[in-house]
Amino acid sequence: MDKKELLYEGKAKKVWTTENPEVLIVDYKDDATAFNGLKKGSIAGKGVINNQMSNILMQGLEKKGVPTHFVEELSERETAVKKVKILPLEVIIRNIAAGSFSKRYGVEEGVVFDSPTIEFSYKNDDLGDPLLNDYHAYALKLCTPEELDLVKKYAFQVNDFLKEVWKKCGVTLVDFKIEFGKLSDGTIVLADEISPDTCRLWDSETGKKLDKDRFRRDLGGTEEAYTEVMKRLTESI
Ligand code: TMP
Ligand code: ASP
Repeated sequence: MDKKELLYEGKAKKVWTTENPEVLIVDYKDDATAFNGLKKGSIAGKGVINNQMSNILMQGLEKKGVPTHFVEELSERETAVKKVKILPLEVIIRNIAAGSFSKRYGVEEGVVFDSPTIEFSYKNDDLGDPLLNDYHAYALKLCTPEELDLVKKYAFQVNDFLKEVWKKCGVTLVDFKIEFGKLSDGTIVLADEISPDTCRLWDSETGKKLDKDRFRRDLGGTEEAYTEVMKRLTESI
């Protein structure tokens, strides 16, 4: 399968068309941004890790009955995926208080919830991805109630699966962001990526941050943290 035309270049990925109109190629970069692109940098080797980790996790999710965009890993940084129309919604599940939740509600990072929370942001960089609820999503025609019900069901299934996978690696899944897309026949599938860019992952013993917060917060050792979680994942499967 060959890349034809560059369809889109995002902050962390390039997306190419192929000879098959239903299939695209995603090409993962080492570029990293934070705070809506205000902070820019690079995490050496990140593209390879995010590509491979995302593919391992998406294949595991398919086996659990969560449909995904995954088709085939083509190289270290490239994967063939089903062409989707991304729902302009960022779906965030949290098991433990951190990040914007801690800031917004004045809750210390690390407080464990009795049950996971779900929230949605409107995927719109110009507006800074504002938080919204179900009714706002319908008013903005981002999705239908039926689609959102399915998105919620899948998101909690993703949480159950990821919590279990990371637990076996000695890693606590704090929270994560996922995105969904629609195939040409209307089927909703998990899209985008699942990686240390999009999850908060803490060492279960020490609480050490093993994710993009090392970059966001200038903690150092970002490359090492990404390499460490990837190593633990590949050794556990
Ligand atoms: P938050 O606490 O900053 O809202 O982040 C929640 C989760 O979403 C965290 O795992 C990091 C992830 N995330 C992204 O994947 N992309 C983003 O643009 C942001 C802000 C967060
Ligand atoms: N998506 C953020 C940005 O726009 C990055 C992040 O905080 O994960 O730069």
